[in-house]
Amino acid sequence: MTTPYDAFAVRYAEQFRDTLHDRVLERALLRAFAELVRTNGNGEVADLGCGPGHITAHLRELGLKAFGVDISPAMVRLAREANPGLRFELGSMAALDIADGSLGGVLSRSSVIHTPPQDLPVVLAEIGRVLAPGGHLLISLFATDDPSIPSQSFDHTVTTAHRWSPDHLAGMLRDAGMGEVARTLCEPQPTDRRQFRELQLLSRKG
Ligand SMILES: C[S@@+](CC[C@H](N)C(=O)[O-])C[C@H]1O[C@@H](n2cnc3c(N)ncnc32)[C@H](O)[C@@H]1O
Repeated sequence: MTTPYDAFAVRYAEQFRDTLHDRVLERALLRAFAELVRTNGNGEVADLGCGPGHITAHLRELGLKAFGVDISPAMVRLAREANPGLRFELGSMAALDIADGSLGGVLSRSSVIHTPPQDLPVVLAEIGRVLAPGGHLLISLFATDDPSIPSQSFDHTVTTAHRWSPDHLAGMLRDAGMGEVARTLCEPQPTDRRQFRELQLLSRKG
């Protein structure tokens, strides 16, 4: 099976190797996420749509038992090569091979941007299913400019992508059993490649 990211995997890994370097706020959020997971028993954490595994490795450095899952065989191969001590599995966020209620946390960093809007509830339900009670999800994606529009598609180098209204996403997460804890909205900066405001939403399974 080939997936849209296979042909871009090597370029993506090189381009975003140091992506957290100038992202002070995102690093702070990841630290907060890690602290919440550790405080709640330090269960395993899945980095869904982990790509080349650079953020999975960062989560490990923050003391989490993190592993990665990605649908792209090329991404999983690169992640394994770059991080020999870590576990990376081939799989889809829409049908996770993970037991109910078994995870202390889930990170979904720009990984649902290519999920068609009608399929996002299925992915969020899967995340809600695998999180343990009190487990945290940190999800990031691009926000719509007009919050009254639930979602909008946009051109993306790899394949069609979608951005979401923060309130609409928070509502879908609530429907999947995860209540909002906090959110940040970061404006595009001259130093990064973002076209749109980026939403980071932290939620907790009730
Ligand atoms: C924009 S990249 C983000 C990679 C990484 N999370 C990061 O922050 O650099 C999107 C990743 O999500 C993966 N992906 C897309 N749909 C997926 C799905 N249904 N299940 C698992 N991974 C998926 C892609 O293969 C790709 O590696």
